[in-house]
Amino acid sequence: MTKAVVLYSAGGPEVLVMEDRPVGEPGAGQIKMRHTAIGLNYAETQIRRGVRKGLPLTYPYVMGGEAAGVVTAVGEGVTGVKKGDRVSYFGNMGSYAEERLIAAEHALPIPDDISDDIAAATLLKGLTAHYLIFRTFPVKKGHTILYHAAAGGVGLILCQWAKHLGATVIGTVSSDAKIALAKAHGCDHVINYAKEDFVAKVKELTGGRGVDCCYDSVAKDTFEKSLQTLAPFGLVSLFGSASGDVDPMSYSKIPLDRYYIHPTLPQYMGKREERLAGLKDLYDAIRKGVIKVEINQRYALKDAAQAHADMEGRKTTGSTIITP
Ligand SMILES: NC(=O)c1ccc[n+]([C@@H]2O[C@H](COP(=O)([O-])OP(=O)(O)OC[C@H]3O[C@@H](n4cnc5c(N)ncnc54)[C@H](OP(=O)(O)O)[C@@H]3O)[C@@H](O)[C@H]2O)c1
Repeated sequence: MTKAVVLYSAGGPEVLVMEDRPVGEPGAGQIKMRHTAIGLNYAETQIRRGVRKGLPLTYPYVMGGEAAGVVTAVGEGVTGVKKGDRVSYFGNMGSYAEERLIAAEHALPIPDDISDDIAAATLLKGLTAHYLIFRTFPVKKGHTILYHAAAGGVGLILCQWAKHLGATVIGTVSSDAKIALAKAHGCDHVINYAKEDFVAKVKELTGGRGVDCCYDSVAKDTFEKSLQTLAPFGLVSLFGSASGDVDPMSYSKIPLDRYYIHPTLPQYMGKREERLAGLKDLYDAIRKGVIKVEINQRYALKDAAQAHADMEGRKTTGSTIITP
């Protein structure tokens, strides 16, 4: 048996309950893992609330989609990973648990010089930043980009990486308290979008031209304005919906010489070789100090509800770890 945080219905953080669940032994092609660090991601709060589209849940549902840990047993036919190896994974729901079974092909090795905490804090967020800045809009020296929620988990990683690639980085945050953090992690300019008109401010900062790409994971509250921040032929990369989904009518307002894309992690990191290549770049960037990893919150597994409440309440910054 393992302690796990389970959902029996959609709702507020209080619907997260910790209980004992069976784990079993690994079948063919599976490994058993003991988690050491579980990554918290904003999408999990949306899954819990039942507002995540295209993801019908079967209850009881073990929450969570990312973790690092140690292999404790391997099933028949498993090659390339053995008992005692340190591995991480993302995209396999059920990570809010002490132990679990998982397909061996989803286990990604953690290098000796990368801690389990760093792996769990950066795997999903760092690979998201990777595809956003190298593939959906390849950031180059001379570009100016706008990133909403710059003090968040993906935000601190992406802004540092984009700055290193030579971009001018403008970030938005919802409180003055988050400004210094965003500035210390890649942002040249930070706008408090709860107080200031970010469209006017971006125009001012760019001499009226606008930005080459706006990375928008806030959506409902920002999308139409994000379009207005673009330079001619600029792109809004709409990769999340922290404030809710975009009003469908908003898409009809996209100017003819402005673009929009709605990318997701599985599209870009669905294949194992894509994940391994992305991780190599991510861990190299961490080793070189290009990305300073900020684990700014830690919660015990039994306090997962508090972690969700804090993330939804916009109280978290950088990465958050849940410890089993
Ligand atoms: N498409 C993909 O492949 C992909 C993959 C990973 C993550 N994502 C998305 O990327 C975003 C960042 O993920 P994360 O895990 O690193 O989260 P995060 O940025 O640490 O947290 C979400 C942030 O969104 C901002 N926000 C804006 N409106 C909000 C609202 N109404 N309620 C709550 N927060 C609001 C808050 O920052 P301020 O207070 O500064 O506004 C908050 O800190 C999320 O939207 C997530 O779904 C997408």
